[in-house]
Amino acid sequence: MGFALAWACNAWRQVRDILLDTDSSSSRTTLGADTVEPHHNLPLQRTSFIGRARELEDVKQLLASRQLLTLTGAGGCGKTRLALQAAAEVTSEYQDGTWLVELAAVTDPGGVPHAFATAVGLREVPDRALADALTGFLRNKSLLLVVDNCEHVVDAVAHLIDDVLRTCPQVRILATSREPLGCVDETT
Ligand SMILES: Nc1ncnc2c1ncn2[C@@H]1O[C@H](COP(=O)(O)OP(=O)(O)O)[C@@H](O)[C@H]1O
Ligand SMILES: [Mg+2]
Repeated sequence: MGFALAWACNAWRQVRDILLDTDSSSSRTTLGADTVEPHHNLPLQRTSFIGRARELEDVKQLLASRQLLTLTGAGGCGKTRLALQAAAEVTSEYQDGTWLVELAAVTDPGGVPHAFATAVGLREVPDRALADALTGFLRNKSLLLVVDNCEHVVDAVAHLIDDVLRTCPQVRILATSREPLGCVDETT
């Protein structure tokens, strides 16, 4: 009995270790011998999402019909949390996944394309402007980008997002910023 229990616990631990073998640095999940591309890089939330049912529904509905939705408001009012919750709930609608572009640590506007490229798994190619490579990479993809904390590099983000939205019809962007980005066709 004790042995059976120990064996069962051990077996469960092995299954769990296999299932949880996620390497976030490489954005890959390993399931036994097969490697599958994950569909998002959204961080795991340690607390439950509270309230905001109406806003959550609004965000999801607007995303279905708008290419760019920006959640604006003062710091700490819940923009990021709402964006991440909405994104997590619609991930399955995007064939090529949902990718968080975290701009909080990007202080140089020149680093914005690099942050986008890293989020979607695009490597820099010598002799090719990263913004061009990015729009080429995203052109035929159906994905959602969650672009968080745009306020301190707003012009560079707006410029890049305008390029992406002009050339990549199946890309949707959910941004958070203390102020609107000022992009064409932005909904705030
Ligand atoms: N609806 C919510 N449910 C649970 N926690 C929330 C909710 N909204 C915000 N928070 C928490 O409050 C804090 C501030 O929210 P955050 O989304 O980071 O604000 P902002 O992005 O507007 O600066 C975070 O710790 C976040 O997890
Ligand atoms: Mg935030």
